[in-house]
Amino acid sequence: MKIDVLLGLQWGDEGKGKVVDVLTPKYDMIARFQGGPNAGHTLEFDNIKHVLHTIPSGIFHADKENVVGNGVVIDPIIFMKEIKALEKMGIPVNERLAISRKAHLILPTHRLLDAASEQAKGKEKIGSTLKGIGPTYMDKTGRNGLRTGDVETKNFLEKYEQLRNKHLKLLKQYDFEFELEQMEKEWFQAIDTFKKLHLIDSEHLVNKARKENKKILAEGAQGTLLDIDFGSYPFVTSSNTVTAGACTGLGIAPNKIGEVYGIFKTYCTRVGSGPFPTELHDEVGERMRKAGNEFGATTGRPRRCGWIDLPALKYAIMINGVTQLIMTKADVLSDFDTLKVCTAYKYQGEEIDYLPFDVLDDSIQPIYKEMKGWAEDLTELSDINNIPKALEDYILYLEKELETPITIVSVGPDRTQTLLRNSNI
Ligand code: GDP
Ligand code: IMO
Ligand code: MG
Repeated sequence: MKIDVLLGLQWGDEGKGKVVDVLTPKYDMIARFQGGPNAGHTLEFDNIKHVLHTIPSGIFHADKENVVGNGVVIDPIIFMKEIKALEKMGIPVNERLAISRKAHLILPTHRLLDAASEQAKGKEKIGSTLKGIGPTYMDKTGRNGLRTGDVETKNFLEKYEQLRNKHLKLLKQYDFEFELEQMEKEWFQAIDTFKKLHLIDSEHLVNKARKENKKILAEGAQGTLLDIDFGSYPFVTSSNTVTAGACTGLGIAPNKIGEVYGIFKTYCTRVGSGPFPTELHDEVGERMRKAGNEFGATTGRPRRCGWIDLPALKYAIMINGVTQLIMTKADVLSDFDTLKVCTAYKYQGEEIDYLPFDVLDDSIQPIYKEMKGWAEDLTELSDINNIPKALEDYILYLEKELETPITIVSVGPDRTQTLLRNSNI
């Protein structure tokens, strides 16, 4: 059985958590492949709203295995807090969760380095979530990192101190004040409970499950336009958020990838700095933010909002090999009589249909097609056959332009507010 992948096609927060939760009943295993607590995946059901940061979004379902893969970076403090909150809700997390020994650990000094680096960048800052993501992946590729499997080794403390001392030297180069003692205390307390979790060589678990014909869904974090290689560099995260990241982040051979679900919002949002060609700085953007409750699930920051961007989506579909599209938050645009869809850009006097190498916001202008809005409430719908004609037209137009079927349409944050366009899903 091949392994399916679900990932974001925009700048993150497309609704991955919700849709993974909806799809989980069809799978045996849900496996996160990259990112860390910079992610915030929101799930809503039975009047409960829950935000997951590092734990896979299949955790609420009984009899499902959840895996945190080697490509993920883990902050034990945040991780243990997440587990405690879930256990309080009666979820037997430990029974359902396995963690790769090869996943890297976020140290307190990684968080300090993230903050110091952002402060030093001033106006040029990435707008990082300050969770230590960049510095941790830097130590991974620089071959200095600590992995979760290290907590089981005798000289763990020595390895920790070596890395921390390297960080302290680096921190001296910044004009940055910090207080490490309390952070370290909390970190080691978290490590004490973290090491009792189910740490394994997860690539074997995943491949064994695949051979036994178990159905596996790989869950991405962030989005394609935040990918370290293909995103709007340097305003990106530090991992490969694309399908290839599922191969390296879980140990899946490329020829074992099956369906690739690409998820996107009916419009666009971005949190943090960096180019955003269709961004709306006016009252329309403000209305979208309000209607979509567009505030970061991890940092609470207001998300920047704008119209849907087809050239960017086409690029993301190409890089990921998307086989099915999932469109979320269609209900949010119910407020608008007319919608805009960016079909190309004007750049240096020419019309182009791709993102140029070095996009500066004022150097690129979106070209829009206007479409009729559906202007009616969608949140009570339970059958795709009852959607308004204008929404059907919007979907058909996107499918034609993107050359990929849209198989799921989400019309609200709750699990139940999900319309399937293909009965095989
Ligand atoms: P993720 O990071 O991709 O998992 O997405 P987030 O959880 O950060 O952000 C998506 C937000 O939109 C969350 O608050 C979800 O509860 C919410 N959401 C998901 N799908 C829909 C939808 O179809 N309509 C509305 N109104 N909200 C949605
Ligand atoms: P989910 O999985 C939206 C953004 C940050 C910043 C940039 C780099 O919930 O979709 P980092 O902390 O990774 O060094 O920040 O990436 N970012 C996200 N934006 N959703 C996310 O995750 C994000 N994770 C990181 O805002 O611009
Ligand atoms: Mg999110």
